[in-house]
Amino acid sequence: MSLLAVCLIAVAIVFITHWLYRWWNPRCNGKLPPGSMGWPLIGETLQFFKPNSSFDIPLFVKQRMKRYGPIFKTSLVGRPIIVSADPELSYLIFQQEGQTFQSWYPDTFTEIFGRENVGSLHGFMYKYLKNMVLSLFGPESLKKMLPEVEATILKKLNQWSTMDTVEIKDSTASMIFNLTAKKLISHEAENSSENLRENFVAFIKGLISFPLNIPGTAYHKCLQGRKKAMKMLKSMLHERRMMPRKENTDFFDYVLVELEKEGTLLTEGIALDLMFVLLFASFETTSLALTVAIRYLSNNPLVLQRLTEEHDGILKRRENPDSGLTWKEYKSMTFTFQVINETVRLANIVPGIFRKAMRDVSFKGITIPAGWGVMVCPPAVHLNPARYENPLDFNPWRWEGGEINGASKHFMAFGGGMRFCVGTDFTKIQMAVFLHCLVTKYRWNPIKGGNILRTPGLQFPDGLHIQLAERRSTETESIQ
Ligand code: HEM
Repeated sequence: MSLLAVCLIAVAIVFITHWLYRWWNPRCNGKLPPGSMGWPLIGETLQFFKPNSSFDIPLFVKQRMKRYGPIFKTSLVGRPIIVSADPELSYLIFQQEGQTFQSWYPDTFTEIFGRENVGSLHGFMYKYLKNMVLSLFGPESLKKMLPEVEATILKKLNQWSTMDTVEIKDSTASMIFNLTAKKLISHEAENSSENLRENFVAFIKGLISFPLNIPGTAYHKCLQGRKKAMKMLKSMLHERRMMPRKENTDFFDYVLVELEKEGTLLTEGIALDLMFVLLFASFETTSLALTVAIRYLSNNPLVLQRLTEEHDGILKRRENPDSGLTWKEYKSMTFTFQVINETVRLANIVPGIFRKAMRDVSFKGITIPAGWGVMVCPPAVHLNPARYENPLDFNPWRWEGGEINGASKHFMAFGGGMRFCVGTDFTKIQMAVFLHCLVTKYRWNPIKGGNILRTPGLQFPDGLHIQLAERRSTETESIQ
């Protein structure tokens, strides 16, 4: 072997050794938290995405919390990440949004949700979009929507009660998708030749999966689903542009007016990415939460009884038995809101909330280096036995007399701080009205399914099949 070749090999060995050393010992102007950076390049990505089937804290986080404590370092999808299972640090991260921390999601997420999605926008543009969304899903808008939500749910429950069995996850997803799509883009699934939701279904399967973009993988299917859904949304927006309507009633109308304004900040790309995120966020999250609620209610007769009493009470007090739910009645559903909080605490639909450190941050003797990703882990906070006694028990009474709106150090199912979920009230109204209609008019038996899988996104691989029957008159006559 020539001297040159020996020299080159030696240089390569020194370079690789140095690179490996740096991979396992990243630079930091302080003390990094404990943890492992895993294998070069892939880090601990494979372990992170390993499926598990429990409501408990994901094994990936649980094992590392035991070994390293509630704050540890790792590497996921090619990025150095600090995982926070610490309530104080997680809360601080939310409060510091736009200052020391900024909303950030790994490139693969941005690929899926679009580069101009609301989670990737900051500052003025972000506030502008948020106001737009709040005008759609804020209390005034929801008040007007209440009768429509109730009518849609009643119609669906009636249909399902004539079937042998109904699969709750998919059926509620379809119902909620249609409600949201009507509100956003006046899309009526029944009158449409193309099935918009189908593309979102393909999309969901790969959403939080291993990001390998080759044909056959869930991630690849997800990207294809996004492509098709975006194409459909784009052509719908163009159609509307060609034939504007006299009255502005949906989000498309609103977007078109905004796009026409001189000096507008909105672009067609931003509007379409937003539409996509809203359609997705609205139906997938709420249908998962409803399915989890029904699963728990099926096994907790005391909770179901208390819930039924609350809703029977609403009907009993009503002057006109034929009138629909009022906003006042909706707001009076105290126990129902406790059931909803308990459901989303256990469901942990969003298993990780991502941010990026904008500068070095010191916390309890450790340093989060500037540029590193941070993943807040709500399941670790929500299943902490020091805060929630028997954390895996479904116990809505634990919320009695406490704060059930907004976020806290110990409750972050809808995030926290400036980026607190804008769809929280929309979700709650749909869940509360659904539960109201269900328990006052129907009884159900679980038939099959109900097993969960976390990859780490929550899924019901076999669905949740129930049989729905009208409540017997003897059960309802006491309230008439
Ligand atoms: C059970 C139901 C839901 C859960 C558990 C949930 C959870 C969350 C969480 C944890 C965040 C914070 C993300 C972050 O800080 O990076 C968030 C943000 C968001 N959610 Fe929800 N969500 C739900 C329902 C909805 C619905 C129905 C909509 C649509 C109307 C929606 C739209 C959004 C949007 C647009 C954001 C981004 C807000 C921002 O960046 O300021 N969500 N959601």
